[in-house]
Amino acid sequence: MANSFLVWHEHSVNQRMHAAQKGQQPCVIWFTGLSGSGKSTLANALELALLARNKHSYLLDGDNVRLGLTSDLGFSDSDRIENIRRIGEVSRLMVDAGLIVISAFISPFADERAIAKSLLPKSQFFEVFIDAPLSVCEARDPKGLYKKARAGQIKQFTGIDSVYEAPEAPDCVINTAEASVESCIDKVISFLEAKGVLA
Ligand code: PPS
Repeated sequence: MANSFLVWHEHSVNQRMHAAQKGQQPCVIWFTGLSGSGKSTLANALELALLARNKHSYLLDGDNVRLGLTSDLGFSDSDRIENIRRIGEVSRLMVDAGLIVISAFISPFADERAIAKSLLPKSQFFEVFIDAPLSVCEARDPKGLYKKARAGQIKQFTGIDSVYEAPEAPDCVINTAEASVESCIDKVISFLEAKGVLA
């Protein structure tokens, strides 16, 4: 709960200075999509592509963050809401540090994605829908989680017995059902070039 006696302090070194030092436009590239849609694969490949362009990025990824920052949270609706709230705040801090942040989370609820987006100017937050039908994600089942969910061994699994609200107006849609990783990354890179994040 926010304390009304707290006061925001402007630091001498601000985001503009951090960004100028790094020679880049800091932003959040927010991947949302079902488990198995390709978020982690594409986020990883995108970070490599950014590194090749000498960009300083950081990848916040579902399982890794849940092993630390949000290890106290599960997969109830309220825990997912808190998960995304914290990640939105951390993403904002990283943007303040001048980084290009790739945040790759199921982030199933439109409201929480909107809250994360609202923390930054429009030019610094891009919602990227990693789109693959449930049937495709389930057929991939890279971690065997859908199988466990169908068998009732995992409860509240997204797409099975927990809702995923697909974005209605994402900034970018990457359909991974048939396209290669390379072509998906090319599309994200073109999008970032059009937004001025990459030259
Ligand atoms: S959320 O909904 O945004 O808070 O989820 P996220 O932090 O991205 O974590 C998703 C990863 O957690 C694993 N996992 C589950 N996912 C969905 N539902 C349930 N019940 C669940 N239990 C564990 C799973 O490995 C997810 O990773 P991805 O990469 O999405 O497959």
